[in-house]
This record gives sequence, C-alpha cells and structure tokens, in this order.
Amino acid sequence: MGLWATSLCVLLFVIFEGFRVECLGVNWGTMATHKLPPEDVVQMLKDNGINKVKLFDAEQSTMSALAGSGIEVMVAIPNDQLDSMTSYKRAEKWVQHNITRYTFNGGVNIKYVAVGNEPFLKSYNNSFLNITFPALQNIQNAINEAGHGDTIKATVPLNADVYGSPEDNPVPSAGRFRQDILGQMTQIVQFLDKNKAPFTVNIYPFLSLYGNDNFPIDYAFFDGATLPIRDNGIDYLNVFDANFDTLVSSLKAAGFGDMPIIIGEVGWPTNGDKNANVRYAQRFYNGLLSRLAANKGTPLRPGFIEVYLFGLIDEDAKSIAPGNFERHWGIFRYDGQPKYEMDFSGQGQNKFLVPAQNVKYLPQQWCAFNPDAKDLSKLAENVNYACTFADCTALEYGSSCNGLDANANASYAFNAYFQVQNQGDLSCNFQGLASVTTQNISQGECNFTIQIMSSSRSSSAGPSLVVILFLAFLTLIMFY
Ligand SMILES: *[C@@H]1O[C@H](CO)[C@@H](O)[C@H](O)[C@H]1NC(C)=O
Ligand SMILES: *[C@@H]1O[C@H](CO)[C@@H](O)[C@H](O)[C@H]1NC(C)=O
Ligand SMILES: *[C@@H]1O[C@H](CO)[C@@H](O)[C@H](O)[C@H]1NC(C)=O
Ligand SMILES: *[C@@H]1O[C@H](CO)[C@@H](O)[C@H](O)[C@H]1NC(C)=O
Ligand SMILES: *[C@@H]1O[C@H](CO)[C@@H](O)[C@H](O)[C@H]1NC(C)=O
Ligand SMILES: *[C@@H]1O[C@H](CO)[C@@H](O)[C@H](O)[C@H]1NC(C)=O
Repeated sequence: MGLWATSLCVLLFVIFEGFRVECLGVNWGTMATHKLPPEDVVQMLKDNGINKVKLFDAEQSTMSALAGSGIEVMVAIPNDQLDSMTSYKRAEKWVQHNITRYTFNGGVNIKYVAVGNEPFLKSYNNSFLNITFPALQNIQNAINEAGHGDTIKATVPLNADVYGSPEDNPVPSAGRFRQDILGQMTQIVQFLDKNKAPFTVNIYPFLSLYGNDNFPIDYAFFDGATLPIRDNGIDYLNVFDANFDTLVSSLKAAGFGDMPIIIGEVGWPTNGDKNANVRYAQRFYNGLLSRLAANKGTPLRPGFIEVYLFGLIDEDAKSIAPGNFERHWGIFRYDGQPKYEMDFSGQGQNKFLVPAQNVKYLPQQWCAFNPDAKDLSKLAENVNYACTFADCTALEYGSSCNGLDANANASYAFNAYFQVQNQGDLSCNFQGLASVTTQNISQGECNFTIQIMSSSRSSSAGPSLVVILFLAFLTLIMFY
C-alpha cells in the first residue's frame, strides 16, 4: 500500500502537473503549552490540501480528530516506550489499542508506525541501541498477526547521523552505516526489506550550517553552490542530495540498494539562531518544493521522494537541548497563522497558506516590566523564573528579540510567562516588578504574543474533567 501510494503520486504527477500537494506530508508535533484543538488542525490540513501527516505518538484526541478525514497517518511510539515494546505481549496491546481500534470503516487511515524517534542519536549514549530492533520486530509482527501487515508498515525514523554526516563522509558514494551500530542497522534493514517497509530518514541542511561557520551557506539551499562536491563524475550542488545519496550508498553497502526511502523530517526554522529566519526558510522551501514537484529525486535516486515537512506548528514546550531554534520549526505559528508565503505544488506561486479557523485568543493584554519599580535587586532572578516556565528563546543571540534593552527584555520574559499562565491573576506581579497593560508592547520584529485559549474547543461545551476521567477509566478496563 505504501508502494501503491507512491506510484499513485507519480501517476498524479504525470497526469496533473502541479497536483503534487496531495503527496506531501507534514509532521504534527504537539509539545506546546497551548495546543490548537485537533479538529481545527485537521481542518487546516484539509484546507491546505495536505493529505499525509506524521505524528510523534498515538494520542487519542489527535487520532479521533483524524478519523474519517482520509488523511494518511504515521503514528509513533516514543523512545521512552521502546523498552516496554521488547515484550511481544506489550507490543500486541499497543497495536490493539492504537492501531486495530482505529481501522474500522471511517476510522484512521494509518499507513506507518514510527518505532522510536532517532533512537541512535549519538547524544542518547546508546540508551536505545539494543531495544530498537526488538521493538520494531514485535510491532510489525503484531501488526501482521492482527491482519494489517499489507497496509501498515513499521519503520524507524533515523537521523542522518546513522551514516555519519556528509561532512564525515568525503563523498556520497563512500556512505556506510556507522561502525558502532552496524550490526543493529543491518538487522533493521533486513527486517524492513522482509516486510516491504521503507527506510525513514530525517535530513536537516539547517543543522549542517548550525554551529559550523565554515559550512558553505549556498550548499544548504538548492539554488546553486559555488563549490560543488564531485563524486564519480556527479556534481553535488547541495547537502540535501549529498546526504540522501550517502544513505543510498550505505543501504547498497548493506545489500539493500533499492530499499524505498521516506524523508521523515525536513525543514527550516524561523527563529532562535542567526540562520533561522523567514528569508532562509522561504529560500529553502522554494528550492525543496520545486524539485519535489519536478520529481527530480537525487543523482543516485531520480524520481519521486515521499517527504514529511518539519513541522506544521511551532512548539513552545520542546526541549531546547539541541538549540534555541527547536521551538520555531513550524510553517505555521503557535496560533495556526502562516509565517510566510509558500507553494506546496512547487510551481513558485507563493501565497499564504490557509490559517487555522476560529482561533480563540486570550484577552488583548500584556504583562510589562514596571518602570517605577524601586527594588531591582530581584530582577534577574524573576526574569530567570519566567523563562524557566515560558519560551524566551526569541531573546537569545541571533533571535528576533535579541536587540531589546534590559527593560523590554524583562517585559518580554514576564509577558511570555503571563500568557503561558493564561493571564492568570497572580501571574503578572513578579514581586512588584511587573504590571498588566492593554497597550501592545511589541517592538519591530519582536512580537510580544497573546496566547490562544488552551485546547478543548470551549471549556463550557466540552466534557468536564470528571467525565474525561471516567471515560479514560472505561477505556482502561476495556483494553487491559
Ligand atoms: C497508545 O498510545 C498512547 C499515546 O502514544 C500511549 O500513551 C499508550 O500507552 C498506548 N496504548 C497502549 C495500550 O500501549
Ligand atoms: C550522555 O553522556 C554524557 C557524557 O557522559 C552526559 O553528559 C549526558 O547527560 C548523557 N546523555 C544521556 C541522554 O544520557
Ligand atoms: C548491547 O548488546 C551488546 C551485545 O549483547 C552488549 O555488548 C552491549 O553492552 C549492549 N549495549 C548497551 C548500551 O546496552
Ligand atoms: C535578556 O534575557 C535573556 C534571557 O534571560 C538573557 O539571556 C539576556 O542576556 C538578556 N539581555 C539583556 C540585555 O538584559
Ligand atoms: C502588536 O503589534 C505588532 C506590531 O508591532 C503586530 O504585529 C501584532 O499583530 C500586534 N498584536 C496584537 C495582538 O494586536
Ligand atoms: C504578532 O502576533 C500577533 C498575534 O498575537 C499576530 O497577529 C501577528 O501577525 C504577529 N506579527 C508578526 C510580525 O509575527
């Protein structure tokens, strides 16, 4: 079915040029303090013709919203659940609860299960090294046993660091899986092949640039590099192609040179680093989308590539361990407003995507530093407190609010906290250092945002907490 969908996309491309938006996927992450209601996100996907979505879990409210939409879904098992999936009984339960339950007519159109998320990242210190393959096996076997094996494929989204970065590999044709994980990778790839499942890789030209000032910037984009990399007579003009073909070579060396490859994540952030901005994001997507539309592929794999953009909406509660840009990957802002013009069909007819409808905001008020405050000795401490619980990444070096003076800086932090706390009564005080204002204190590029009303459609119409807990309890006794 995965293969069938692929050929359908190729076919669509041949018949209706520019129809490719149907084949483009997006990553829908939900690590946000204030989430848009899942039903509204699904509507937004439909309004923009997005027909494929990749999730990071199998959360019930998301799945319910997707039911009946026809949208193809990749559900996921987070890394912290991999260990338990090494038990076949547990994996069976997961499949029953998170797959079989949704496979009725008018249910969720599940295509893939992502087993873990980049589990072999070097920074995880091998924590998932020996459990990823058993978890993959158990999940696919349980899917097969439940009778969904022909249509639902388990895969493991891996970071390109499983074959070293293109900077480590002199040329793409020299690509090999990392020596320390070669045994695991070989088993995984053999198993994927046996089940006709695709290899999934996340490719981030932005990260090649991030923290590497010697990286030639043009090479991160698609509009011509000044110094191409020459490999067996092929000129590589961008790191995306080089990265992808390093994987093709690694698969070939492992004996599976024709294995289908999905790009699980690719995108560009708009804040949190000197190279993370709207201009570069647009330049990146313009290049990426037009070559996807042209079915250009890469030198070693010409043709259609299945791609999931990262990501759909900004997530202000993501860990910033990888960098401040982590919370700014969305093609939409936290409130479902498009950040810039783009054209999914890759025809260069850039326009703003359709925003989320009926978004409900908190009242038009901000929390600001109080310039009359007498005792400033606790200012730094209070700013620090605010930024522990709210997103202050826009204040950091290279970000949109980095140029603020100390007072405005404090206001930004206080406001971010105030909004995260739903503008609650005591959340704009900070020991007398702050007060509420109805004046928009945004400055230039730096947006002092108003948060949205948190998820559940409207609190009065939604079920009460007691009802939710009761339903959760019912679900629990039904499935255990
Ligand atoms: C189904 O998925 C949810 C969300 O990812 C997870 O919390 C839950 O444990 C899973 N259910 C089972 C029975 O494993
Ligand atoms: C990995 O090891 C390093 C160095 O020993 C340590 O600082 C880091 O916290 C570890 N990371 C994880 C995810 O365990
Ligand atoms: C993984 O398994 C191998 C072989 O059994 C063992 O040598 C290694 O210590 C294990 N690694 C981790 C991180 O558990
Ligand atoms: C503003 O706040 C951020 C975050 O706490 C801090 O890193 C930065 O140094 C502050 N800048 C000024 C000018 O106070
Ligand atoms: C506040 O002002 C900025 C421009 O300075 C604007 O972009 C933003 O929409 C305004 N916010 C609200 C909630 O009106
Ligand atoms: C600032 O935020 C408001 C909503 O809070 C939004 O309407 C506006 O477009 C944003 N402006 C910029 C420049 O991002």
